[in-house]
Amino acid sequence: MTLFPEMCQAVYNDALFNIASNKGLMEYHVHNIRDYSHDRHRTVDDYTFGGGAGMLMKPEPIFEAVEDVLSDKKEGEEIPIILMTPQGKKLSHAMVREFSCYDRLVIICGHYEGFDERVREHLVTHEVSIGDYVLSGGELPALVLCDAISRLVPGVLGSDESAQTDSYADGLLEYPQYTRPPEYRGWKVPDILLSGDHGKVDKWRRKESLRRTMQRRPDLLEGISLSKQDLKLIEEIKEENPELQDLI
Ligand code: ADE
Repeated sequence: MTLFPEMCQAVYNDALFNIASNKGLMEYHVHNIRDYSHDRHRTVDDYTFGGGAGMLMKPEPIFEAVEDVLSDKKEGEEIPIILMTPQGKKLSHAMVREFSCYDRLVIICGHYEGFDERVREHLVTHEVSIGDYVLSGGELPALVLCDAISRLVPGVLGSDESAQTDSYADGLLEYPQYTRPPEYRGWKVPDILLSGDHGKVDKWRRKESLRRTMQRRPDLLEGISLSKQDLKLIEEIKEENPELQDLI
C-alpha cells in the first residue's frame, strides 16, 4: 500500500521477486492508497490536532485500502499487516524468516510526518524499521523487506543452498569467497580452496566465518550455540589474532 506505486513497480520490474512471480512462486501487487481517498482532490493527508509542523496520513484511506484488498480473507487466516516506520522493530534475518512463512502479507508505506495513531493501534500487526535513520518514505524499506523475503521462498534462488549459507542464515557472517583467476596481481587464493579436499575446505570456511564474525560482529556470537569444534577453532583464531583475545 503506497502513495508511489510507480516507484514500487519500477524496482519490481528488475527485482528477484519479479522473476519469482514469473515462475509462479510469489505474487506481488501494488495498491495506491490515494485510490481510497474520499474527495475529488484525492486527499490522503491532513494537519495534526494540537498543532505542529507537517502533515499526517489520514486513517480512512489506509483502513479502507487494507480492508478492500483483504475482503476475500478467509476465517482464521492470519495475515500480518506491516507498517514500515523508523519507530518499528529493527529488521533481522529472523524476522524475514518469520514473515516468509505466511501465505500473504500486507505492507504499508508511509509518507509525510507519519500516520494517524489509530492506524498503529487498530490496523497494523507489526511495525518494522530497516535501521536507525529516517528515509523520506516507506517504499524503499518495503522493497528491502520484499527482496529479503523472496530469497527465502523455496525455488526462488538457483540452489536452496545459497540462502542457507548467506551471512546471518546460521547466525554467523559468511566466509570469504574467491573465483578465478587463482592469482590476480600477485594476490593468491588460499591453497586449501584449490586442494579439492572438501573436509578441509568446510573446516576452513567455518573457521573464517567465525573469524569474520569475531572481528566484525562479535555481538552475533552471543545468540548462537557453538559446537566443541567451533570452540577449538575460536582458540586457534585467538592465537592467530591476539586482538580478539578478550572475546567470548
Ligand atoms: N520510513 C522512513 N524511514 C524508515 C526506516 N528507517 N525504516 C522503515 N520505514 C521507514
